[in-house]
Amino acid sequence: MKVGILGTGDVGRALGNGFIGVGDSVCMGARDANNEKAAAWAAAAGSRASHGTFADAARFGDVIVLATLWTGTENAVKLAGPDTMRGKVVIDTTNPLDFSHGMPPRLSIGHTDSAGEQVQRWLPGAKVVKCFNIVGNAHMVQPSFPGGPPDMFICGNDDEAKRVVTTICQSFGWPVVDIGGIEGSRDLEPLCILWVKYGLKTGGWNHAVRMLKK
Ligand SMILES: NC(=O)c1ccc[n+]([C@@H]2O[C@H](COP(=O)([O-])OP(=O)(O)OC[C@H]3O[C@@H](n4cnc5c(N)ncnc54)[C@H](OP(=O)(O)O)[C@@H]3O)[C@@H](O)[C@H]2O)c1
Repeated sequence: MKVGILGTGDVGRALGNGFIGVGDSVCMGARDANNEKAAAWAAAAGSRASHGTFADAARFGDVIVLATLWTGTENAVKLAGPDTMRGKVVIDTTNPLDFSHGMPPRLSIGHTDSAGEQVQRWLPGAKVVKCFNIVGNAHMVQPSFPGGPPDMFICGNDDEAKRVVTTICQSFGWPVVDIGGIEGSRDLEPLCILWVKYGLKTGGWNHAVRMLKK
């Protein structure tokens, strides 16, 4: 599979390594084609890794990962060109964090809207699936916990896109809980705040969420 990653931060690089690790090809995109983080990542990740602009990555990928700072996400989508993502699965990892009141951050959107829904509106022709936003980047690929694997919660409007993302998650070691349409992002984005608050309280970042069922 060819994957375009919009974002050079910890998430973009962690997921980039994950995709390379399961045999996919990855192009990592940034605002600048010569972005140093993307260039260093691609050099270290091997022959199936490349880098370029957001538009290069969006054109390259059959599946796109959106891993940008929330306040830069609309700009990144515009720079990538929404038409290049038409018909494609777009994995939205973003959280709309507002740090202006200090730590823990608050959500800048919520209750009646969400980042996931905004992204879907900016990309009306794409199949947006919210995923990977509820856990720190260190555990996004092959999460290893004493109690067994945590669950990845996803949501999105297109069932086939969610099947694609479920297969990706499973290849990264995650069981998946599908909570429905993209408006479920209103419930998944606050889980990020829960994750951060617990980390701040305990001083550790090795936790993740699991749903028990019977
Ligand atoms: N860090 C985590 O563990 C974690 C976990 C779950 C979810 N998330 C969410 O995942 C997303 C990515 O997080 P991250 O920590 O990997 O990186 P980040 O620092 O939040 O974002 C880095 C990316 O944002 C782009 N960016 C920043 N300002 C921009 C602007 N004005 N216009 C266009 N692009 C802009 C940067 O572009 P350049 O490359 O051009 O500089 C870079 O690629 C965030 O929404 C975050 O909330 C993070």
